Amino acid sequence: MQILQRRPRRNRLNAGIRAMVQETSLQIADFIFPMFVMEGQGIKSEIKSMPGIFRYSLDTLLIELKEVQSLGIKSICLFPNYPESKKDKYGSESLLPETLYLRALSEVKSKFPDLVIMTDVALDPYSSDGHDGVVENGKIINDETVEILTNMSIAQAKAGADIIGPSDMMDGRVGAIRKGLDRAGFTDVSIMAYTAKYASAFYGPFRDALDSAPKFGDKKTYQMNPANIKEALLEAQLDFEEGADIMMVKPAFSYLDVIKALKDNFNIPISAYNVSGEYAMIKAASQNGWIDGDKAMMEMLLSMKRAGADIILSYFAKEVAVILNEG
Ligand code: PBG
Repeated sequence: MQILQRRPRRNRLNAGIRAMVQETSLQIADFIFPMFVMEGQGIKSEIKSMPGIFRYSLDTLLIELKEVQSLGIKSICLFPNYPESKKDKYGSESLLPETLYLRALSEVKSKFPDLVIMTDVALDPYSSDGHDGVVENGKIINDETVEILTNMSIAQAKAGADIIGPSDMMDGRVGAIRKGLDRAGFTDVSIMAYTAKYASAFYGPFRDALDSAPKFGDKKTYQMNPANIKEALLEAQLDFEEGADIMMVKPAFSYLDVIKALKDNFNIPISAYNVSGEYAMIKAASQNGWIDGDKAMMEMLLSMKRAGADIILSYFAKEVAVILNEG
C-alpha cells in the first residue's frame, strides 16, 4: 500500500460527494434559445442540417413559445428567414414598419411580456449579396452599414426588443447603436455585442436555415481569423468602451480560451454562442449511434460555463431544460 497524503479520488467517491465538490453547473436561466421565424401560416418546417430545430410562421411560433416558456426558458433570440424577393443591396426590408421581423418582435412581446427577447442586427437576412453589410465593388462598406444597423436597432427596440444583438462585426457599430438607442429614448434597451465573432465553418447549418449564405466570397474582411486571440481582446476593449452590456464569443466550443480571456479581463457578463454547426455535429454523431447525444451535449455546454461563460445561446436549450427539470 502506498502512503499518500493526497488521494484526489476521495472527492469522487460517490454521487453525493461528487455533487458537493462540483465547481460549475448549468442552470436553465443561463440559456438563450435561438429561434427562426418566416412568413406564412401554419408552418413548422424542420431545418435539414439541424434536426429538432424549425422555422416557424408567426402563428406557430407563438404556440411553440408557450412550450418554451413552460420549460422555464426565460430568453430567446429571434432570427428571420426572408424570401429572395424581399432582399436588396441595403437590406431595406429590415426597416419597413410592417416587415415580418418587427411584427414578430412586437407580437411576441405583447403575448409574452416576461420573455427576454434578443434580436439580430446585421444585413444578411435581408441582403441580396448575402453579406452582413452593404457591398460596393465587391467590398463590404463599414460606415454606411453602421448607419443602417443603427436604424435597424432603433426599429427593433421600438418593436419591443430587450437586447439588441449586433452580429455584423463592423467597426464602431456598438457605439453608434448605443448613441442611436439613447437619442431615440431607449436607454433601457441593452446591447449584447457579438464581440469576438470568428469567420467559422460552423455557421453552415444556420445559413441553410436563413438561406443567407454569401453570394460571393466569404466573411473574412469582417469576421475574425480563427488563429487570433489578441485581436479578440482588442475587439472586446472597443465594445466595452463603446458601451456593450454583454460581450459574446462565437462560436463557443473551439474558442473556450477566448471565452476565458474575455471573462478574465472584463467585468461584464460574457456569453457564448453554441452555434449551429456544433449542434449539428452532436446530432449527427448521436443519430449514427456514435456518441451519447445527451451526455455529449451536457459536457459541451458545461465546458463553456467552466471557461467562464455566464450566458449560453444554444439550440439545445429545450433539451437541457428537460434534463435539468428532471433533476
Ligand atoms: C449573421 C449570423 C450568423 C449566425 C448568427 N448571426 C451567421 C454568419 O455570420 O454567417 C450564426 C449562428 C449559428 O451558426 O448558429 N449575422
